[in-house]
Amino acid sequence: MKVYLFFVNIRLKNNFFKILLLNLKKLKKKLKKMQKDKKETYYQEAVDELKSILEGETDLILKMSTINSVLKNKFDYYYWVGFYIVNKLNNKNILNVGPYQGTFGCLHIDFNSGVCGRAAREQQTQVVQNVHNDTEHIACDSNSNSEIVLPVFNNHKKLIAVFDIDSTELSAFDEIDKIYLEKILTEHFENGESSIYWNLDND
Ligand code: SME
Repeated sequence: MKVYLFFVNIRLKNNFFKILLLNLKKLKKKLKKMQKDKKETYYQEAVDELKSILEGETDLILKMSTINSVLKNKFDYYYWVGFYIVNKLNNKNILNVGPYQGTFGCLHIDFNSGVCGRAAREQQTQVVQNVHNDTEHIACDSNSNSEIVLPVFNNHKKLIAVFDIDSTELSAFDEIDKIYLEKILTEHFENGESSIYWNLDND
């Protein structure tokens, strides 16, 4: 009898943990959906926060680091966020890793490779729903499943960097991310004055 009760007890406990796990998973999904539904509100908050924090600032590194911090802490589907800065190596355009938050980012990316290289070449935002289906994608971290890369221009309309955001979720980025991120980059790099620290001779 005791042995029987012992096994019944274990079974009940197992079921309890299974149900708990299931509910936690459901809750996590619900929270994610809630955040997706509120994407626009959160982006508008980020736009406003950055506007007030960066008012009058011209330092490019300061601006890039602050944008990374504000966005990474607001959106939990962001996994890696950072800038790759346009530079020259042996007379060729190259992207060097700049301010970022996340796991180790590849140091140099050629204009002819990676989603970052494509964004720099085409000077257009790239939204990749599944990086494993993109033949140009470079995996600096195998946890990434989707990404968005945007070109960053200075106030002479010259490409100075690309802004890269990766997610471990598939299809994490959409038109809303594109619109608001482009708005943030335009506001802080294209419309504002910037002090420059690196070689921008990238014609
Ligand atoms: N995935 C990028 C490389 C940079 S990392 O993701 C940080 C690309 O394909 O260019």
